[in-house]
Amino acid sequence: MQSNIVIWLLAFVVSPLPSMEARKRLADDDDASESLIGTPARRGAFPNVASIFYFFFGLFVFYFTLGAILFDGRQICGTTLIDTNHVLTGADCVSFLFGAEKSSDLTKLRVYLNTVALKTYNPGAVISNVLRIKFHELYDRKTKANNIAVLTLETNVTTLYPLSLPMDGTAAEYVGKNGTILRWGTAKSATTTHKILLQAPVSIISNSECSSKYGFKIADNSLCASSGSQEGINCQDDSNGGPVIVEGRQVGIMSWGKGCMDFNYPGIYMRITSFMDWIKVNTV
Ligand SMILES: *[C@@H]1O[C@H](CO)[C@@H](O)[C@H](O)[C@H]1NC(C)=O
Ligand SMILES: *[C@@H]1O[C@H](CO)[C@@H](O)[C@H](O)[C@H]1NC(C)=O
Repeated sequence: MQSNIVIWLLAFVVSPLPSMEARKRLADDDDASESLIGTPARRGAFPNVASIFYFFFGLFVFYFTLGAILFDGRQICGTTLIDTNHVLTGADCVSFLFGAEKSSDLTKLRVYLNTVALKTYNPGAVISNVLRIKFHELYDRKTKANNIAVLTLETNVTTLYPLSLPMDGTAAEYVGKNGTILRWGTAKSATTTHKILLQAPVSIISNSECSSKYGFKIADNSLCASSGSQEGINCQDDSNGGPVIVEGRQVGIMSWGKGCMDFNYPGIYMRITSFMDWIKVNTV
């Protein structure tokens, strides 16, 4: 305990400040007024759907003592465990680290697995540091094309099953299928505000229908999921990188949307079947 405090103080003093962009992204604190749309995920139902945290000052010493995330940690995105030591996410989520993959900023990332409520004690949670970020070579920040990245974890996660991806060689387009999206939403109780994992039903629509709703072409390597509800969901950036799951397999990575999950504007996901080769090459 004593030495923890010393390390904490030391970390506070010596840690360099994150880049402007990182700060801008992270300044966007929990929005307590965000409505709770979706159903809280049951503990253990989606242990491989995780959260990426960024710690301004690298203060992570106290988790184990207090069983809670304190201080400066910010949840930045959703992610999914796809094998023992890789998680899949949106390139957007970690784009503030683009070109700085080897810098000390990388050591400020943490992946929280088997967690349904952030900043609370989650029995069985697995927390890992990040060793590497691999951005898609053709990722375009402006258009969000190829918005996909793989993070290599320091920890080999052997206690949780990874989330299955589509079967090799499948040409499935999932049009008309029901799916589930998982995102992080703000829950408010009498005493605290924190983020919890929410699940919500969606249905997959064709890219042509999706393109006509948006009024421009949605790329073939994207997948569109509609909430089928008139009620718009105020999705925030920190839900990006999360999955859409169809028949137990992750078929998309949450990327962007206009009026997130609004009936008129389906959510746009990176289509996993279009990236299977890339994922394979980058998870060896
Ligand atoms: C994780 O597993 C890989 C290969 O399966 C092994 O090379 C590596 O040493 C392991 N890392 C740890 C921290 O156990
Ligand atoms: C999708 O879900 C809706 C609402 O629960 C249901 O009515 C419909 O039959 C489902 N469609 C398929 C293809 O399973």
